[in-house]
Amino acid sequence: MRCDIITLFPGMISPVLDESILKRAQAKGLLSARIINIRDFTFDKHRTADDYPYGGGAGMVLKAEPVLKAVDFIRDEEDLRILLMSPQGKRYDQSMAVELSREERRIVFICGHYEGIDERVKTYLSPEEISIGDYVLTGGELAALVIIDSAVRLIPGVLGDSASVEDESFNQLLDYPHYTRPAQLREMDVPSVLISGNHEVIRQWRRRQAVTNTLIKRPDILDEALLSEEDIKILEEIKEEFEK
Ligand code: ADE
Repeated sequence: MRCDIITLFPGMISPVLDESILKRAQAKGLLSARIINIRDFTFDKHRTADDYPYGGGAGMVLKAEPVLKAVDFIRDEEDLRILLMSPQGKRYDQSMAVELSREERRIVFICGHYEGIDERVKTYLSPEEISIGDYVLTGGELAALVIIDSAVRLIPGVLGDSASVEDESFNQLLDYPHYTRPAQLREMDVPSVLISGNHEVIRQWRRRQAVTNTLIKRPDILDEALLSEEDIKILEEIKEEFEK
């Protein structure tokens, strides 16, 4: 995955890219990320990136021209997929993470800050507007990082064990509980089935835990999920137990 993050606050981005899995993905050549400072595309004496809103009102508005110049600079080289981080955007989800993890084009993240961004950035670029949830952040930087993180971990070879991606919750259901050593901790035991060594029984236990977890915490997911016959049987059993 190749991406550019256009921001007024590069210092918010680099510490996250320089740690853990994202750092390793770059070292392996599976992620290439450039941070583009909007201020480098301002050409007045004060390097102004924001200004007062026409029509009055509170706060400052990010100017269009420096952002457009930054995009022009990148576009010189190649085909782009442009994403504008915005609370008004389409809600980001796991299916978009999967799609972005397979994107061939360079992905450009435009991070607004302040009260908003001059509308002509949207008029000119027709970007995809993306929101990471129904709340308002101080800027798009955290949103861009959430998206990069969730997409990069899906690229084959980024996580050590590719089964761990295939196996996990948002494919279908919420996750099952995980345990590691010690087997007993403050009088809490690891479920004995996990120590049994019987892989099929463990698999069934985990599936039942996942179905139960989903039923309790996110029943809306169950409505959408593709359930196996085994899942449906488990669901019926759980519901019967609840009714007792
Ligand atoms: N910028 C501010 N709030 C945001 C949100 N919820 N998602 C994406 N970008 C944002």
